[in-house]
Amino acid sequence: MSVLLGFLLLLSLHPPTSYATTDTVSPGQTLAGGDRLISNNSKFALGFFKMDSKNSSYTSRNSYLCIWYNKLPMITPLWSANGENPVVDPASPELTISGDGNMVIMDQATKSIIWSTRVNTTTNGTVVVLLNDGNLVLQSSSNSSMVFWQSFDYPTDSLFADAKIGWNKVTGLNRRLVSRKNSIDQAAGLYSLEFDINGVGHLVWNSTVTYWSSGDWNGQFFGSAPEMFGATIPNFTFVNNDREVYLTYTLNNEKAITHAAIDVNGRGLAGVWLDSLQDWLINYRMPLLHCDVYAICGPFTVCNDNNDPFCDCMKGFSIRSPKDWEIEDRTGGCMRNTPLNCGSTMNKTGFSDKFYYVQNIILPRNAMHVQEAASKDECSDVCLSNCSCTAYSYGKGGCSVWHDELYNVRQQSDASADGNGDNFYIRLAANEVQSAERKKKSGVIIGVAIGASTAAFCLMILLLMFWRRKGKLFARGAENDQGSIGITAFRYIDLQRATKNFSEKLGGGSFGSVFKGYLNESTPIAAKRLDGTCQGEKQFRAEVDSIGMIQHINLVKLIGLCCEGDKKLLVYEYMPNGSLDVQLFKDNDKVLDWNLRYQIAIGVARGLAYLHDSCRDCIIHCDIKPENILLNESFVPKIADFGMAKILGREFSHALTTMRGTIGYLAPEWISGTVVTAKVDVYSYGMVLFEILSGRRNSSQEYFKDGDHSAYFPMQVARQLINGGIGNLVDAKLHGDVNLEEAERVCKIACWCIQDSEFDRPTMGEVVQFLEGVLELKMPPLPRLLNAITGGSHSTPLSSLDLP
Ligand SMILES: *[C@@H]1O[C@H](CO)[C@@H](O)[C@H](O)[C@H]1NC(C)=O
Ligand SMILES: *[C@@H]1O[C@H](CO)[C@@H](O)[C@H](O)[C@H]1NC(C)=O
Ligand SMILES: *[C@@H]1O[C@H](CO)[C@@H](O)[C@H](O)[C@H]1NC(C)=O
Ligand SMILES: *[C@@H]1O[C@H](CO)[C@@H](O)[C@H](O)[C@H]1NC(C)=O
Ligand SMILES: *[C@@H]1O[C@H](CO)[C@@H](O)[C@H](O)[C@H]1NC(C)=O
Ligand SMILES: *[C@@H]1O[C@H](CO)[C@@H](O)[C@H](O)[C@H]1NC(C)=O
Ligand SMILES: *[C@@H]1O[C@H](CO)[C@@H](O)[C@H](O)[C@H]1NC(C)=O
Ligand SMILES: *[C@@H]1O[C@H](CO)[C@@H](O)[C@H](O)[C@H]1NC(C)=O
Ligand SMILES: *[C@@H]1O[C@H](CO)[C@@H](O)[C@H](O)[C@H]1NC(C)=O
Repeated sequence: MSVLLGFLLLLSLHPPTSYATTDTVSPGQTLAGGDRLISNNSKFALGFFKMDSKNSSYTSRNSYLCIWYNKLPMITPLWSANGENPVVDPASPELTISGDGNMVIMDQATKSIIWSTRVNTTTNGTVVVLLNDGNLVLQSSSNSSMVFWQSFDYPTDSLFADAKIGWNKVTGLNRRLVSRKNSIDQAAGLYSLEFDINGVGHLVWNSTVTYWSSGDWNGQFFGSAPEMFGATIPNFTFVNNDREVYLTYTLNNEKAITHAAIDVNGRGLAGVWLDSLQDWLINYRMPLLHCDVYAICGPFTVCNDNNDPFCDCMKGFSIRSPKDWEIEDRTGGCMRNTPLNCGSTMNKTGFSDKFYYVQNIILPRNAMHVQEAASKDECSDVCLSNCSCTAYSYGKGGCSVWHDELYNVRQQSDASADGNGDNFYIRLAANEVQSAERKKKSGVIIGVAIGASTAAFCLMILLLMFWRRKGKLFARGAENDQGSIGITAFRYIDLQRATKNFSEKLGGGSFGSVFKGYLNESTPIAAKRLDGTCQGEKQFRAEVDSIGMIQHINLVKLIGLCCEGDKKLLVYEYMPNGSLDVQLFKDNDKVLDWNLRYQIAIGVARGLAYLHDSCRDCIIHCDIKPENILLNESFVPKIADFGMAKILGREFSHALTTMRGTIGYLAPEWISGTVVTAKVDVYSYGMVLFEILSGRRNSSQEYFKDGDHSAYFPMQVARQLINGGIGNLVDAKLHGDVNLEEAERVCKIACWCIQDSEFDRPTMGEVVQFLEGVLELKMPPLPRLLNAITGGSHSTPLSSLDLP
């Protein structure tokens, strides 16, 4: 799992064979080499170690005194003492108590003090104890309530359960989390998570720029972090009185292993360890997108959350420190390949620096607006005339220029050339611009040649492609042992038994097969086994992310998961009536009556409305089709298969993503490559409504006879609505046993849902109200796309579209 690659660290010292574990260092004793302090409950360990990233040319010679979870197979440092003062090979460190009673780290060879707790101890004898909650304390040897120093007061990047983050208003002590420099170096990085004295949490860059704020505590959660509400593990508590203001959390289950921290990339996170996954399951990340972290890629870079890695240099620049870049410290950014010529030649006819044009950029903040420049050329001249000017943009807002280092330049979309991002001109030495443009041109020619010959093929590939998922994972209350809340972690062998060695196949979904089984010989389940491929992995994550965090009567319920090596399974409640496509399109004895169809239409709409509006983040399902609508014993529909789902933060309304979904249900904006919103699901839902009405696929060959496409079903409906003859469009298998008023309602809604412009389509919430009869509907206009489809070739209707 690459989710926490930054924490995949190796312990380079071997545990000693003959060290009696203890939680205390007394005067005269030392802790050195591979010695550990182990808390009395065995949960935490303290010792020296060196961190090596598994896959890096970079091996560290630095060792640190750290606290970590004793029993995890990989080391996640939770606290480190001497991040700024590592012990460098070949020096060998020891932890001991110095003459003045302080806990110190000494270089054994030189007997010099590398680090000290530096407090005044008012007693003769002090001891160091690693407590059961992971707190390392320096206390009186005779009276354990006399604590002189504790690690909980000096956190590094992680918040322990029962520790506090915030202020002691009396002493002025401010406990804040500070990111580490990179995945190896324990020195403080540029990002911090801290509270202000009013109790509002902030993520801050270099102590100056706030890029995320928690909002106020409303008694249950922070305004910008509603996921805290009702979380059982961790259970957060916020306290604000005249002595203190802090946030803390408790564990309801002593055994639970949690991780709340700020990572090397400046994002806050909270998660739990899942034994079955052998990895952290991160419940929450803030902010959701890497590119929302201030200056995450350093100067002269372009940040793009759809890429991996998400940082890239601007044209004409190269990575300043590839070594740091590899261990996730990209804050050094990029540097010019060729220095600017500025100043050496400057005349009105031409300058020796030129501009390189980048499109679809989200402009960085801190622009300077130049009122006087009234054209693009003038704007360009203004920038050229000042040697510190490095970029300009000329658009609706007039002329903007940037000086010195450029931070926070974000790519808006790589899918399209005419998105609504801004233009951006980066200043480069003239020769750099020429070579960059040569490259661009040849790239375009090749691109066009390949594009023209294989457009249809590429479309298919695109559809099969998943986006590279990075970021947040969410499974509410996923828990280690008994799985009392939320999701259960199954062992593979148990699922093998439950499904009788995968003998009863229910079907094949995207990237895997689904098998029936029984838990405890009684509760029926559907176990989806994902391919051991990379795609399976991604789908697994996407699905756990989206469906793991939500519950709704019209969404299929994820009961549990299993993840052992490349064996990945997702376990759902079993749906006796299969999927909607089987009920609608296959020749069954029992035909779905109109009443059920209408109820199914409402149920699916409610499920989608919930996904889009009501749960924490907006989730776009991206693959609504009858195959993904399951029916329980009472034909209550449940939306399934979240392998393509896209999660948006609540503050976002649209996403940039690679194309996904299924031909025949794809909204036009997928094809035109602009940003997508929840309205792509509305479109797909509209297409499904047509199929519920007709009992046949919209793509059914019978609609396309002899090159005549006027029979395309959605087209027929749109026309018949105007002429008023809906009755004969309804599935003949119903033998006219139809509520015509409802049928007409369904037709109208379907036509509104498939409008070309997403703005013309209703929201799913409105669709529910239309179906319930709460809202009335106007007559829909004929969707233009239908014209295009009926006028084109039916065999590949979508790839032949020329979009307006
Ligand atoms: C350590 O734990 C054991 C039980 O596991 C208990 O008997 C003992 O009193 C504990 N010691 C301390 C110092 O808390
Ligand atoms: C290790 O790094 C090399 C080159 O940097 C890369 O090709 C390889 O895929 C990496 N391996 C892993 C397991 O990440
Ligand atoms: C510790 O003692 C020294 C000398 O008595 C004093 O100057 C200093 O302020 C004390 N520090 C603290 C934190 O009390
Ligand atoms: C410190 O130790 C000395 C001698 O062992 C003893 O006389 C004195 O009372 C002790 N002081 C404290 C504060 O315990
Ligand atoms: C231990 O220290 C605490 C706090 O300093 C004090 O209140 C308590 O009386 C001490 N207990 C003994 C037995 O000295
Ligand atoms: C962070 O701030 C310090 C002091 O304000 C400054 O010297 C330093 O250059 C800043 N770091 C970066 C990367 O800008
Ligand atoms: C969270 O902790 C508080 C106090 O520590 C407790 O009152 C509350 O019941 C806990 N909430 C849950 C969901 O366990
Ligand atoms: C002015 O610019 C032109 C075009 O780049 C260049 O050929 C000429 O040498 C420049 N003149 C001076 C005085 O630098
Ligand atoms: C260039 O722009 C900077 C920032 O606005 C300004 O401080 C500086 O004086 C300018 N230099 C010249 C030569 O105009």
